[in-house]
Amino acid sequence: MTERSIPQHVAIIMDGNGRWAQARGKKRTSGHKVGVEKARETVEIAGKLGVESLTLFAFSSENWQRPEEEVSFLMELFVVALKREVKMLNKHGVRLRFLGDTTAFNKKLQQSIAEAEELTANNDKLRLNVAANYGGRWDIVNSVNQFITEHQGKKAITEAELEANLSTSQLPNLDLLIRTGGETRISNFLIWQAAYAELFFTDVLWPDFGQAEFEKAVESYSSRQRRFGKTGEQVDAK
Ligand code: IPE
Ligand code: IPE
Ligand code: MG
Repeated sequence: MTERSIPQHVAIIMDGNGRWAQARGKKRTSGHKVGVEKARETVEIAGKLGVESLTLFAFSSENWQRPEEEVSFLMELFVVALKREVKMLNKHGVRLRFLGDTTAFNKKLQQSIAEAEELTANNDKLRLNVAANYGGRWDIVNSVNQFITEHQGKKAITEAELEANLSTSQLPNLDLLIRTGGETRISNFLIWQAAYAELFFTDVLWPDFGQAEFEKAVESYSSRQRRFGKTGEQVDAK
């Protein structure tokens, strides 16, 4: 058997919590609770597989439009989960970072985020990036605006310069984007970064995700030929 290749940077759209709960006659929020457990498990699996960077989509810039009760439940859940998990993450050498406009969160959550990032800043094992109040369009506009400010509008931006100010600039290129929950869309996640990522969509709802499905995604990734515009023969010849 040929050695499988492990993606350096995996991103996951963790979708399906609400439907998972509703199918069990429970409130959507109970699905989010299980979702957090799954996120923790997934971090462990990623570490074992040898993934360098894992980016989890926890809350999109569009998710504010959900019922207020669900939004505030999620905010509280983030605070509690952060407090509970950060020590263990730190012990395992995980470097935690948040991607997105976190200034929109309440003070308590902003503080937990800052503390968690600071505590884990010098760790060198898995890079765990939590996308919260993240939108791919926001990321791009934010980068361009930084450039405009820096150059006072006197210079046209290049792709490399745009990339340098994205929230992911310190991370390896995105190799594999997984979405659970059956929808085959990107929902304004890493739209720039996904330009040449391999996509893996599964019907498995996020609370049912686990090692088996993660391995399936990696197997699928490993079996693909990434051509980046070249012919298959050119890539084989390398
Ligand atoms: C994803 O699950 C989690 C968040 C967006 C926070 P959903 O809550 O979107 O679950 P479904 O899609 O309604 O089942
Ligand atoms: C995307 O899921 C956001 C997260 C997983 C955090 P959504 O459930 O919000 O996406 P749409 O609205 O179905 O596209
Ligand atoms: Mg959803």
